[in-house]
Amino acid sequence: MFKGVLFDLDGVITDTAEYHYQAWKKLGAEIGITIDRKFNEQLKGVSRDDSLTRMLEYGGKSTEFTPQQFVELAARKNKNYVEMIQKVSPNDVYPGILELLENLKQAGIKISLASASKNGPFLLKQMRLTNYFDGIADPAKVQAGKPAPDIFIEAAKIVGLTPHECIGIEDAQAGITAIKASGALPIGVGKPEQLGHDIALVASTKELTLEFLDDCWKKQ
Ligand code: BG6
Ligand code: MG
Repeated sequence: MFKGVLFDLDGVITDTAEYHYQAWKKLGAEIGITIDRKFNEQLKGVSRDDSLTRMLEYGGKSTEFTPQQFVELAARKNKNYVEMIQKVSPNDVYPGILELLENLKQAGIKISLASASKNGPFLLKQMRLTNYFDGIADPAKVQAGKPAPDIFIEAAKIVGLTPHECIGIEDAQAGITAIKASGALPIGVGKPEQLGHDIALVASTKELTLEFLDDCWKKQ
């Protein structure tokens, strides 16, 4: 049996991946870059600064902004995003997630957060989920963001485990790559076209039961 589950947050625990997209789209529109959902797949899971770098490259504007303006743009996106998430509540937790957290707790399996977001602790609080988590990896402390494995390694470490003893759950291409590189077993929330044909996938978080996780673990 696996000993821990390393959770991504945005797009796995709740629908905040959509708010990130809306906030980047708004910033893009302000600086003359139009992004769509297809391009957004490349931003999912990626840190704030790395997302901005990718968006400026996509819009052919990598050299248009000074380092100070870059910092200002990232802060502006975050300000928009933070406004959007003020109303997040326990009603916004994705279906099946609360039951999964409760069942993991009862089974004595460690629960750790491996989100790239600096807003993760605030969101857990808003959804009243903080107490379920044995650990919250601090994205500011890891050297490289997803797709590097660092945040998953850290999330396992802070609950006394190695990634090889854990399952990682992700909705992003960068996140699945990070889980694979860490040595944890990946489960994807989403479509094979985005996340690959070589890993266990669910179309909805409703399918993320303890039994399903256990099956995936036994089949690996
Ligand atoms: C990830 C999101 O969880 O966190 C990304 O999938 C986001 O879209 C990243 O850029 C960083 O989040 P934040 O809240 O620190 O800007
Ligand atoms: Mg995500």
